[in-house]
Amino acid sequence: MGNKLIAGNWKMNFTVAESVDFIGRVKSLIKNVHKTGMCICAPFTSLHALSGALRGTGIALGAQNIAWADKGAFTGEINAAQLKEAGVEYTVIGHSERRHMFGETDETVRLRTAAALKNGFAPIVCVGETDAERTAGKTESVLKRQTVAALTGLSAADAEKTVFAYEPVWAIGTGKNATPADADGTVKFIRGTVAALYGAATAEKIKILYGGSMNAANCADLLAMPHIDGGLIGGASLKAEDFNTIIQAAERL
Ligand code: PGA
Repeated sequence: MGNKLIAGNWKMNFTVAESVDFIGRVKSLIKNVHKTGMCICAPFTSLHALSGALRGTGIALGAQNIAWADKGAFTGEINAAQLKEAGVEYTVIGHSERRHMFGETDETVRLRTAAALKNGFAPIVCVGETDAERTAGKTESVLKRQTVAALTGLSAADAEKTVFAYEPVWAIGTGKNATPADADGTVKFIRGTVAALYGAATAEKIKILYGGSMNAANCADLLAMPHIDGGLIGGASLKAEDFNTIIQAAERL
């Protein structure tokens, strides 16, 4: 079992002042983290301030989107150079909220993933089935389609830098997490899908996180599962104590 990655997804929360204040509180809590990877995916407006505030904490900076084009007429988008200048290392791509509310598709996810890798970012590609898809027995076909689409056209060297987050849509923000065994089985399926494309060695190197109502109470059981390489945490990443509890649970494994 490799080291875990704990990524906070702040979504559309926190002003710049609130972001910096939060890091101040997290800094005083996070102690003795030696092996667990940490990252906070913040709103664009907070990125510059956070790159300073995070210095010395061991927490990497992440964004929540990246454009596929280098620059130009793309109102509302943000490009690689802008993110790099702000000190960003990770970017969430294809979160279910973007897929379902903002028209993100498998194809735009593919384009954004390629752009992130081309520019040296680690993409955190979100995949996951809806409640209806799960009930209809389509979980595996949906995950296979989303995973293959994101990786299409990538070399093995690029593919292995891709982080996936398995986020069942019915578990996001609902307080209803997947059971550790179910989440682990599904993450294993995603890894198998990667293995079918690139071979087992590459698939083993890829980090696959679980996301969807991971919190201070259930994190230890989820993170202890053999195939789950970490967590993408929404609600609980907005509470300094809970975020620290999750990081410490990963560190203890
Ligand atoms: P949640 O969100 O932890 O609030 O369920 C996870 C996510 O959407 O990344």
